Amino acid sequence: MDQKLCLITGANAGIGKSAAIQIAQQRHHVIMACRDREKGEAALRDLREQSESSSAELVIVDISLQSSIKDLSEALLEKYDRLDVLIHNAAIFDITQKQASRTDEDIESVWATNHLGPVLLTELMWRALNNSAQGRVITIASKGLIAKPFLRVDLDDPEYRRKPFSMENSYYQSKLAQIIFTHWLSKLGSKTRITANCIRVPAVRINIDKYPGLSAMQKKAYALKSKLSLSPDQMANAYTFLATAAEMEGVTGLYYNENMKPVKPPRYTEQSQNIDKVMELTMGYLRRWLKA
Ligand SMILES: NC(=O)c1ccc[n+]([C@@H]2O[C@H](COP(=O)([O-])OP(=O)(O)OC[C@H]3O[C@@H](n4cnc5c(N)ncnc54)[C@H](OP(=O)(O)O)[C@@H]3O)[C@@H](O)[C@H]2O)c1
Repeated sequence: MDQKLCLITGANAGIGKSAAIQIAQQRHHVIMACRDREKGEAALRDLREQSESSSAELVIVDISLQSSIKDLSEALLEKYDRLDVLIHNAAIFDITQKQASRTDEDIESVWATNHLGPVLLTELMWRALNNSAQGRVITIASKGLIAKPFLRVDLDDPEYRRKPFSMENSYYQSKLAQIIFTHWLSKLGSKTRITANCIRVPAVRINIDKYPGLSAMQKKAYALKSKLSLSPDQMANAYTFLATAAEMEGVTGLYYNENMKPVKPPRYTEQSQNIDKVMELTMGYLRRWLKA
């Protein structure tokens, strides 16, 4: 079996960490991209203990910042001329946040982290993905979108500059944009060997201690919901399958559930006029950043 080179963002916790460990257990080389060195080092130690993989490594990136993504991709491209798998797992969804927060580069944080960051990282790693025998880009969306059938990407105000902020809508908007990006990318990759697929994640247990602002009621509700939720390890099976399975070679443009089965994506994300508009909006940011 060929050893794949897999880059996974947000690999220090939750599903990303479980997927990093599973992929390393298959003896692939995992690059764990984390924003916090201490948490990243702890996760790398766990990975090494659980996978006997000596070839995993930690890199530091804040995926909400174009400057940090550029630094990471430069460092990676200096070291590696190919990348086989890129998993855009890192995301934020803090339901206790009531006001929009902006990054140091003045972009609304959810839009920057969950959508723009993955697009820019893909763009900058495209050459390396293209050098792979079969580059795979994997994006992550949410099953919760089923409850938001009328939500759209707000083409005029995606960053909540003029309207009141809603964490829920901002998060689901970013996930709609990621599905759209996947469709667009899969078309773009059709003349290459690069594939792009998206995974729809249902409720999966997370460590809620990272949200100290949760009320007692919210904690109780979360504990109840957790009983029906998947573990990060269970969910990571789908990431690992899409990243490594021989059956996935050449498969592109699909939306997968936790059981590794293709499911229908939201209709809005498949319509070509919506794909064009959302990607025109997205590429506007990239054009400015790549010029800077
Ligand atoms: N859990 C669910 O029920 C659920 C449902 C639907 C979709 N999803 C999706 O599944 C994916 C994984 O979620 P999870 O449940 O495993 O979440 P999680 O436990 O909160 O992990 C998120 C990871 O992303 C990292 N991250 C956040 N912002 C970052 C940034 N600016 N730069 C770099 N890394 C950053 C976090 O790092 P820190 O530890 O430093 O914060 C953490 O490693 C996400 O895309 C999420 O939207 C999850």
